[in-house]
Amino acid sequence: MASNKGLREAKAGKNDEFYTQLTDIANEMQHYKDHFKGKVVLCNCDDPRVSNFFQYFALKFHTLGLKKLITTCFKSQDMDLFSTNQAEKAIYLVYEGDKNGNGTPDPEEIGIHYFKGDGDFRSEECVELLKQADIVVTNPPFSLFKEYIAQLVQYDKKFIIIGHQNAIKYKEVFPLIRDNKVWLGYGFKGGATHFISTYTDKAVASGHKEGMIRVSGVVWFTNLPIKKREEPLILTEEYDPERYPKYENFDAINVDKTLDIPKDYYGYIGVPITFMDKYCPSQFEIIGVGIANLGLSIGIQPYKPEHKEYRKKVQKRGAVDGDLYMMKGDEVVVPYSRIIIKRR
Ligand SMILES: C[S@@+](CC[C@H](N)C(=O)[O-])C[C@H]1O[C@@H](n2cnc3c(N)ncnc32)[C@H](O)[C@@H]1O
Repeated sequence: MASNKGLREAKAGKNDEFYTQLTDIANEMQHYKDHFKGKVVLCNCDDPRVSNFFQYFALKFHTLGLKKLITTCFKSQDMDLFSTNQAEKAIYLVYEGDKNGNGTPDPEEIGIHYFKGDGDFRSEECVELLKQADIVVTNPPFSLFKEYIAQLVQYDKKFIIIGHQNAIKYKEVFPLIRDNKVWLGYGFKGGATHFISTYTDKAVASGHKEGMIRVSGVVWFTNLPIKKREEPLILTEEYDPERYPKYENFDAINVDKTLDIPKDYYGYIGVPITFMDKYCPSQFEIIGVGIANLGLSIGIQPYKPEHKEYRKKVQKRGAVDGDLYMMKGDEVVVPYSRIIIKRR
């Protein structure tokens, strides 16, 4: 029988096998056109030719003025199949533009190269390709997101990658966001999209598309300059202590919707994680995140013993020190993950 760990890993691996639609890639890339001229683009979690990341950059190679496109795959040697994870070795493709003048990337113009290993993005030979790259663009495996983004930062690469918005609050990722080293790109309509997948879609009937899986909370993470970050949020609401209660364990007001941030409050404000999509660094400073140890590190007080007991015994919920909470009469109210910000 499979161990719990084995099952978890299998589940994580399974969740990694979904593929990005060409329209989603094109929608995001249109905002970065000026960054690609003369650049080497690497897509390093992509089954070579079927990857829409490869398709997009090969087709747009000359329009964008790319220098080179490198696409690597994982445990696969078939350049025309989505990953079967059946080969212990892998290949990578290198495209350097149209040679025969027909304007399309023909198979004979795409160089196929063999890795010694399985194409793991952390392997030495993949890191060698990473060093050659200027901009990395892909949808990496969600289960390895922390390691994946850490490697890009370690090698000082520019990137545009898909991830889940929950990654914002990972202790490995949040400091990058807080320190303006990484931010959110333009994103997906309604914060969700369909990915190509062979696995069963659990989406409600109305959201179902054959051969696709709907994933909500997906975002693009990037460290390339984009106009969106220069556009301050238009705030219309006024501060009202009744409407914006303070937390019991931190001197900040609670705001449930980003657009309700009061225009005239200059102290600490707790906002939902979706605020990051509207974040303009000249308008707000990010102080921290109100979760567990990250919360404690910015001075969020641990639960008062009586509130912790109430939360656990009466409400039968978890009570982790460092999480923000409010009191509504006798009731302990813990809002879903809050980012703490302050107006500049
Ligand atoms: C979410 S899928 C996205 C695939 C492709 N980038 C796309 O968007 O269509 C993640 C891909 O990463 C591959 N992968 C999993 N572990 C990997 C690793 N350690 N190194 C490189 N690729 C990996 C998976 O096989 C899968 O093809």
